[in-house]
Amino acid sequence: MPKLIISGRGGCGKSTLVTLMAQRIEEQGKKVLVVDSDESNLGLGAMLGIEPGEKTLMDYLGGRPAVMDKLMAVIREGGDEKAELFPENSFLEDLPSDFVRWNGNKGFMQIGKIEHSHEGCACPMGAVTRDFLNQLNVNGEEWVLVDTEAGVEHFGRGIVEGADSVIMVVDPSNDAVLLSEKTAELTGEAGKSFGVVLNKVDHETKIILEDVLKKKNIPIQGFIPYSKTMARENLNGNMLDIKMVEGGIDEILNRVESHYQNK
Ligand SMILES: Nc1ncnc2c1ncn2[C@@H]1O[C@H](COP(=O)(O)OP(=O)(O)OP(=O)(O)O)[C@@H](O)[C@H]1O
Ligand SMILES: [Mg+2]
Repeated sequence: MPKLIISGRGGCGKSTLVTLMAQRIEEQGKKVLVVDSDESNLGLGAMLGIEPGEKTLMDYLGGRPAVMDKLMAVIREGGDEKAELFPENSFLEDLPSDFVRWNGNKGFMQIGKIEHSHEGCACPMGAVTRDFLNQLNVNGEEWVLVDTEAGVEHFGRGIVEGADSVIMVVDPSNDAVLLSEKTAELTGEAGKSFGVVLNKVDHETKIILEDVLKKKNIPIQGFIPYSKTMARENLNGNMLDIKMVEGGIDEILNRVESHYQNK
């Protein structure tokens, strides 16, 4: 199954979609690893109902100084920043419990978080994510869902290179529509498949978005309606439940799966 990047503008529902997809994948009896590559937000674990591991992947690799040393060594040798930071050919079942927490068939890990002011940019985390995804092998019953920071910075950092497909979450806004064109273009440049999921829509906004995205030839993989319950439970720091939204998620998984298999 694919290693999937979930992209989109701030607050559109990336972490929500990742959580709902992970729940449904687990219900289908498959294994899913959720990778939190957002260096700022802290709430994904609460949505999933899984405590983050003892360490982030950055911590596991020796922290920012150790990762920076490896990256700088590659640059000094005239390389293109493609340091080997993570062991080659890793499999989900072998990932160390220092940084992956499993709850049933759902795993959760964080790449790294900005912990201190003036600690530097998040670029090393991008390099770590890219290398980790490149080295990770998944079989036909395993999914990897990568939650990202808002915007398109992850394209600049090249993390899309290690994934198979990009799903962008589009909320009912002109900004999201404009960003979907940019994200489709960037995904195409990276040679990966692309689709969008409409989120927080009602009957009227869904029709408008479908119309405008079809005219732009942006493939729609499904939708999630606005759910008052989900917004409230998230505000209270509670775990999300797929039952809080009507339908939608199976359709998204089926479309992504068939898109991936017909690649
Ligand atoms: N379908 C929905 N119905 C109601 N509320 C939603 C829905 N999807 C997301 N939300 C709410 O919108 C807010 C942002 O959602 P979420 O954190 O998933 O977005 P995000 O794209 O991950 O944000 P960020 O860019 O900050 O990482 C949350 O309060 C969440 O509960
Ligand atoms: Mg988020």
